[in-house]
Amino acid sequence: MLRLQTLEALRQCVGGWKNDGLRVAFVPTMGNLHDGHFSLLRLARERADRVVASVFVNPTQFGPGEDFARYPRTPDADAGGLAAAGCDALWLPDVATMYPHGVDAAVRIRVPGVTEILEGAHRPGHFDGVATVVARLFNQVQPDVAVFGRKDYQQLAVIRHMAVDLAFPVEVLAAATRREADGLAMSSRNQYLDAGERRTAATIHAVLQQMRTRALAGQPSECIEADARQALVQAGFVPDYAVLRRPDLSEPAAGEGGARVALIAARLGRTRLIDNLEFDLDNG
Ligand code: PAJ
Repeated sequence: MLRLQTLEALRQCVGGWKNDGLRVAFVPTMGNLHDGHFSLLRLARERADRVVASVFVNPTQFGPGEDFARYPRTPDADAGGLAAAGCDALWLPDVATMYPHGVDAAVRIRVPGVTEILEGAHRPGHFDGVATVVARLFNQVQPDVAVFGRKDYQQLAVIRHMAVDLAFPVEVLAAATRREADGLAMSSRNQYLDAGERRTAATIHAVLQQMRTRALAGQPSECIEADARQALVQAGFVPDYAVLRRPDLSEPAAGEGGARVALIAARLGRTRLIDNLEFDLDNG
């Protein structure tokens, strides 16, 4: 696996592959990689001839009170895991490469609408930072296909909106959420949890499943959402939201059928966790 730290080296590498007619897949990450990330790598491998992964803890997507400084950084383990998962090149830009005019003078990408609700409402500016860095990464790597996880459901929607709107010649692929044995979605932030919190954390997935069961039984959304919040509070969480939405994250009308996604964001101690569950009211 090549480790690339300059734009010149990256362009030479990917350009060479493209001249040979090879299809290039890209998996952007912030590092501290786990099996969720590696499942994205495996999907990328299936869909392309060469795979580039990036590790960059992006300062512009963290809010002032958030965990940018303490976000776990494990470069050696990440490189080892990526090589084992079949990654061909690891792109490791530094902040000056990503933001050549500095973070404050950076050109920003703002996706309207979907960024203003749910995660966007609770983390102002977060999705602007995500769109801003992913647009740069797409321009730097110039992949044919890029893989993102369904775990970050709203992020995927933001990136799809941006890729279409700015005509990036990149196919955006979604990978299923990888979970621990008790249902907790894998996340770099899980390691902030102490042993007690770690046991409680699986409640999020259990509550999502209850939301699905009750929605399939035809119960009204307001009751399901209120009870989900209550169940989270009882387990010791401070919920930001627990909602049932259409796949595009708009609010369904009462009695409306079709596809749904249940989404939860909740704080446990000083750790904020998100998860979601997709299902179809017409097909279970
Ligand atoms: P990060 O949190 O490192 O996640 C990188 C990718 O892994 C994202 O597409 C995310 O949805 C996916 N992922 C994380 N946990 C997963 C799980 N349990 N199952 C499946 N996929 C999972 O998301 C980011 O980084 C950043 O916002 C980024 C897109 C890299 C921009 O900075």
